[in-house]
Amino acid sequence: MAGASPRIVVTREIPQAALDLLREVGDVWWPQPDRALSPSELHEVVACADAVVSTLQDRIDAAFADAAGPSLRVVSTVAVGYDNIDVPALTSRGIVVTNTPGVLTDATADLAFGLLLAVTRRLGEGERLLRSRTPWSFHLGFMLGSGLQGKTLGIVGLGQIGRAMARRALAFGMDIRYSGRRRADEAIERELGATYLPFEELLSSSDVVSLHCPLTASTHHLIDADALARMKPSAYLINTTRGPVVDESALAKALADGAIAGAGLDVFENEPEVHPDLLELDNVALAPHLGSATVETRTAMATLAARNAVAVLSGEQPPTPVRG
Ligand code: DGY
Repeated sequence: MAGASPRIVVTREIPQAALDLLREVGDVWWPQPDRALSPSELHEVVACADAVVSTLQDRIDAAFADAAGPSLRVVSTVAVGYDNIDVPALTSRGIVVTNTPGVLTDATADLAFGLLLAVTRRLGEGERLLRSRTPWSFHLGFMLGSGLQGKTLGIVGLGQIGRAMARRALAFGMDIRYSGRRRADEAIERELGATYLPFEELLSSSDVVSLHCPLTASTHHLIDADALARMKPSAYLINTTRGPVVDESALAKALADGAIAGAGLDVFENEPEVHPDLLELDNVALAPHLGSATVETRTAMATLAARNAVAVLSGEQPPTPVRG
């Protein structure tokens, strides 16, 4: 509609700075008070939208595009991961898809390393002990954890976040190995002292396996019972990417049986549900999908998402398109 202000639907509340950017170019709608929209509510509110700023909770597929109708020009997700988006279904309709890589790298790697420290040094277990008012006293064998110096970190997916995790691990004296779809540049391998290994070998030789690959059809349940059986009984698994990369039932069993030593998990197969067996185990550190959850990072993500949407609405190339 020539001259009409674009209709921009934001599916969850976003920081003011990002809203302000969107308001400069269109009429912005978002649920107030903030809440998750059901799929049918989502389809209802996106009708006739020119742009949708979405989150990883929204299922964005052909039905979504049909519900929005022909006005829709851009779906800008406030996330680096876009496994919730059927990119070909959108791009084949001429809808641009954008995400927010880069700005959450450090926050996510910090959280992954935090989970690693939490599980290897038994921080959650120690806190639960104190909060339960259980009597305790210092002694030399009390609540011993596992040190990181000289241990091997196996990174699955040496992208931006995997590399940031490796840099943190280097500062803790760890050796870096990695596996992935392809080998990293020589310069990156040199900087990180990282050795490329086939996935199976990475599993069997690492003291810590940290997952940084996206969720795709080929990484769904990449860590299954077989993969867990290849890991050392003294090894730890860290997952800050997407829950379904890990078969959660198999993981809970491996943790309960002592097939691996522990796990640190920020993401879950059926979020927001957490497998009930995991909740019973002491050798797992849990966080509710907090990887990018800092004020600075969420502001940067939302602002980048807004810039992406504004660019497409203005007929310009968005800063960070998803190449579908
Ligand atoms: C992402 O961006 O994909 C994270 O999971 C949420 O910040």
